Amino acid sequence: REKLQIAIDGPASAGKSTVAKLVAKKLNYIYCDTGAMYRAATWYALQEGVALDDDQALGEMLTQMELKFIPSDPEQLVFVNGVDVTKAIRLPEITNNVSLVSAQPSVRADLTKRQQQIASNGGIVMDGRDIGTTVLPNAQVKIFLVASVHERALRRFKENQQKGIKTPLDVLEQEIEARDYKDSHRKVSPLTQAKDAVLLDTTSLDIEQVTAEIMKIVKTEE
Ligand code: C5P
Repeated sequence: REKLQIAIDGPASAGKSTVAKLVAKKLNYIYCDTGAMYRAATWYALQEGVALDDDQALGEMLTQMELKFIPSDPEQLVFVNGVDVTKAIRLPEITNNVSLVSAQPSVRADLTKRQQQIASNGGIVMDGRDIGTTVLPNAQVKIFLVASVHERALRRFKENQQKGIKTPLDVLEQEIEARDYKDSHRKVSPLTQAKDAVLLDTTSLDIEQVTAEIMKIVKTEE
């Protein structure tokens, strides 16, 4: 069997990482969360006091950032220069600043290169915003996951409860809308559905149903 590249894109909290992990597990593929890479870059910039809109300074900063993913259950661990940032990169301070950092061309260039390296041998499920359009334009399977803003805010709300993050539902809706807007309107690699991506609306589907849909598409390519 050929080892495929599977790209899963879509707006914030559409369930990408949850289903991407499940698909990777079923296929025994590597899972790569590119959002975590942009979050790690944002964390590092705040740590180093680099302005979040200073394209050049961020580009230089990234040459000093070693990023490591360590497989672990239920959530893979993320390390920046040896510091475990797994939890820190999910805090609201990062979530609400990451779109500014991810809009900077030097940041996208650097992280895109790292992502292409990780995916170069195939056998990978990669989730993000621009995987099907920019990072892996030749991926054999491209999925574009969407869901209503309300449904996505609700999912994030439940996820947050388990982590002890107490942001109210209506604030989450506003934050998700704001992040979608910024991610869709930036100049470099904005969030858009690739022409050859399959659109999957997950609003009224559960995780198992979405995973099964994706596996069906994968089977036709294997
Ligand atoms: O997927 P997640 O919500 O963790 O992504 C965090 C942020 O990283 C997104 O809002 C977006 O600004 C950025 N991102 C991106 N391109 C990707 C993945 C994430 O710009 N491929």
